[in-house]
Amino acid sequence: MSIAVVVPLMAIVVWTIMRRALPLFKLQQKKIDRLNQVVREKIAGTRVIRAFVKTEHEARRFDDANRDLTDTALTIQRTVSLMMPSLMLIMNLSSAAILWFGAHRVESGGMPIGNLTAFIAYVMQILASVMMAVLMFVMIPRAVASAERIEAVLVAKPSIVDPLDPAADDQREPGSGAGSDRLRGVVEFRDVEFTYPGAEAPVLKGITFTAHPGEVTAIVGSTGCGKSTLVNLVPRFYDVTGGALLIDGVDIRNMPQERVRNAVGFIPQKAFLFSGTVASNLRYGKEDATDEQLWAALELAQAKEFVSEMPGGLEAPIAQGGSNVSGGQRQRLSIARALVKQPPIYVFDDSFSALDFRTDSRLRAALRSTVTDATVFIVAQRVSTIMDADRIVVLENGMVVGIGTHDELMRGCEVYREIVHSQHAEEEIA
Ligand SMILES: Nc1ncnc2c1ncn2[C@@H]1O[C@H](COP(=O)(O)OP(=O)(O)OP(=O)(O)O)[C@@H](O)[C@H]1O
Ligand SMILES: [Mg+2]
Repeated sequence: MSIAVVVPLMAIVVWTIMRRALPLFKLQQKKIDRLNQVVREKIAGTRVIRAFVKTEHEARRFDDANRDLTDTALTIQRTVSLMMPSLMLIMNLSSAAILWFGAHRVESGGMPIGNLTAFIAYVMQILASVMMAVLMFVMIPRAVASAERIEAVLVAKPSIVDPLDPAADDQREPGSGAGSDRLRGVVEFRDVEFTYPGAEAPVLKGITFTAHPGEVTAIVGSTGCGKSTLVNLVPRFYDVTGGALLIDGVDIRNMPQERVRNAVGFIPQKAFLFSGTVASNLRYGKEDATDEQLWAALELAQAKEFVSEMPGGLEAPIAQGGSNVSGGQRQRLSIARALVKQPPIYVFDDSFSALDFRTDSRLRAALRSTVTDATVFIVAQRVSTIMDADRIVVLENGMVVGIGTHDELMRGCEVYREIVHSQHAEEEIA
């Protein structure tokens, strides 16, 4: 009888407390997130914070996030800490009740005292187990809140997926991995349109041109006109939202991603190196490259000199993110990394911007004389960098406003003439 009363009572207490605590657990996870985000930003942006004398502002930001989390955690703990005392109270009250009623029966001689003790022992054992089960309920909501968040990551579908049925062209040597039959590197943009996920307007519209092996295609245009976006489509970092991008006549959506990316030597706008050594970074795209190949690539990228002066040469350590080399050196190493791979397609996204004028022109001359059979894309700010390209694509607001050689564009493209003139004016001032 006592159990029939006590267990539901316990359940009611637990339910009331948990109903309050459950949403708080979810909130707590979010706030832990927020705190981590603030700390990460603080560490990544230390220099900026110091330079802008925002140390106190950042400390306050951390403090706010931290206090917010503390408040929630305290509320949860206070709520949950009610649970044990109330459960103990229920348990002990019930044993008092048993003693009370039992004692009367023992007194009247209706029951031997041994029965009473045994009864209490049993009830206590049952209630102790019930309490253990109840304590589980404290852990479960937290686990549920965490599990939901992990689940959200796990079920997220990648937006770039390999084709189920790769184009016939790729089925010649199934399972042999990409690179066994080398792509030639004819890159065709066919009326390409691209909108970033969630954005309203397309960043690129109606891009149509073809780049052939052995040719340099330059892309110029003002800041934010979509140059990086355009070249990011080549290794299929994003899928086009209209039209098609073809390599060797095959839509890249119909090729395994590995095959496309193995064919592209990508030098990102923001050079990134991994912690390790110069050699480990250079071998990133071709693990079995010999030291000679590495030096050859370094020489091409105009990086030989400074690497040989580094202690250890190829084995010189590179810190996390490449923070122990200068911006220009980082860029040259990232160019060398792509050159070691010897792909049929190169994408230089503004890779020459951190180089001084002379290094820039020496590098391009070296590229022109050795990388003769690859399809090369160069995004550049300086017109001098791309003047001798086989084809210059002039972008404005995501649209092609001119395609041709330097001379043709000088004659026929107003936007290009403006870019050239503005830079000449700058040079005269400088
Ligand atoms: N990840 C992104 N999500 C949403 N919009 C983006 C994203 N990246 C870029 N954009 C938008 O796309 C436009 C083109 O950006 P993009 O990086 O291609 O310019 P860009 O021509 O390379 O500029 P820059 O010369 O400064 O490198 C920008 O106006 C920007 O607002
Ligand atoms: Mg860019």
